[in-house]
Order: sequence, then C-alpha cells, then structure tokens
Amino acid sequence: MKKKEDLYKKTIDFHDDGEIYDVVNSSFVEDVPFWKKWCEKAGKNVLELCSGTGRIGIPLIKAGFNYTGIDNSKDFLDIARKKAAKLDPNKYSCHFLHGDMRSFSLKQKFDSIIIPFNAFQHMFTSDDITRCMGQVKKHLRKGGLFIVNVFNPKLEKLIPDYEKERDIYKFPKKFSIFETRRYDKASQIMFADWHYKFYGQRKDFTKNLIMRVFYPQEFNSYFEANGFRIIHKFGDYKGRPFDSSSSCQVVIATR
Ligand SMILES: C[S@@+](CC[C@H](N)C(=O)[O-])C[C@H]1O[C@@H](n2cnc3c(N)ncnc32)[C@H](O)[C@@H]1O
Repeated sequence: MKKKEDLYKKTIDFHDDGEIYDVVNSSFVEDVPFWKKWCEKAGKNVLELCSGTGRIGIPLIKAGFNYTGIDNSKDFLDIARKKAAKLDPNKYSCHFLHGDMRSFSLKQKFDSIIIPFNAFQHMFTSDDITRCMGQVKKHLRKGGLFIVNVFNPKLEKLIPDYEKERDIYKFPKKFSIFETRRYDKASQIMFADWHYKFYGQRKDFTKNLIMRVFYPQEFNSYFEANGFRIIHKFGDYKGRPFDSSSSCQVVIATR
C-alpha cells in the first residue's frame, strides 16, 4: 500500500465509532447558526461533504433544506441515518450517502457545498485537494457557495512535539482521551495519537488522528487555482474578518 493511502486508511479507522464521536463533539453547536445562515443565502439544496454523524446535517434538515450528506465512515453514516429516521419523511428531505470527498459523483447540482469542522484537513496531498475541488466545481451551480473551514495554524502550538501524554478530554464514567503528537514540517501533516482510556467497560485503545495543516495564503491559492473566487474570508463563525490572531479560516467561495 502506498504511504498516502495508509493515511486515508488510518483516517477511516479513526472515524469508525460514531458513538464516541458524539460523546466528544455533539455538544459543540456554536457553528450551527453560521452554516444555516450561509446555506440560506445560497438556496434550498445543500451538499455537506464529510457529514459525519449529522451534527450539522440534522439541524439543516430540520431547518427545511433539501440536504445530502456524504461521508466515508459507514458507522458515522449509520448513526446519522438513525437520527434522520426519527424525522417526519413527509416534512423533511435528506440523503446520507457513502462516498469519498475526492471522487463522489451525483446527478445533481447544489446551491451550496459545505465542508464544516476542519474535515477538509483530511486531504493530504495537493493532488487530492485538486480532485476534491474539481468534484465540488462539477456539483455546484454557477453562483452557488462553496464553504470550508480549517484551523489557522499556530506554529507555537504545532511545534514542539508532545511526546508525553497530554490529557485532552475527560468524560466522567465514560472515557478520557490522552494525546501524544508530532508535526511533520515537510508534509505539513500533524500526527496525533489519541489514547482512549475507559472506566472499566471497554478495553483501552489508540487511534491516529491525522490532519493536514493549511497556511492562510496557501489555502486561498487552492481555491483560486481550482476555479473558485473567494468572496469572504472569516476568522470565526461569527463572521469576524480573518487576521493573524484568528482561530480558524472560514472561506466562502463561488464559481
Ligand atoms: C471532524 S468530522 C466532521 C463531521 C461533521 N461534518 C461535523 O461537523 O460534525 C470529519 C468527518 O470527515 C469524514 N471524512 C474524512 N475523510 C473523508 C473523505 N476522504 N471522504 C469523505 N469523508 C471523509 C470522517 O469520516 C468524519 O465523519
């Protein structure tokens, strides 16, 4: 197996337990109004790439969008579908599909295509970024919105490596997560090992969270080189302008 494909395989493996993902992430809701607001500006038909367990998808469906989510984790899709099955099918329209953001193909164009919650950082090479953006371009209607957010890398946090376990999450009576981490300056890839320690119920295990880092000017260039025009760049979900101190890069682009 090629080394690059090994990174993608490990990423699928990292996302193989949606229940754990929801324990860690479902309470994070501060970005939901942002995605609703910008999808509303574009129109009814939304495609979310890397839709996960429906953290963003379910609120968008409930807000009345015709929603399609694509993810390559079968377990996450199962959980999202179970959540969607509780909604009235006469009232809401949604599909959760298995696919890869580099190679999906649907017979539909969308008003907006969104990649929330740093998921685009699971693209590891320029070639794959180009493949993904090429598919987005094919599936986005002219004038539609392509919205992506990634971290704004803070070098002082990325470097040095953390060789000793750091305590990063604690969920009483469930599990704790400890992290060891290194950053490869050549590939711009952060390799974090998440050590899950359970309180008795399950065997502990370690999973690899692998994320590509995008520097701000480089990130903009990918949109421009792949046929998109950036119309806004925000530094958070409240829509503050992006600057050196911003925690994230939120790009709103069109074609
Ligand atoms: C940080 S989660 C974000 C999930 C969801 N968008 C949210 O906001 O909670 C990253 C998601 O990306 C998915 N993913 C990673 N690489 C992918 C790929 N190449 N194609 C499709 N999905 C991918 C994972 O399975 C996971 O569901």
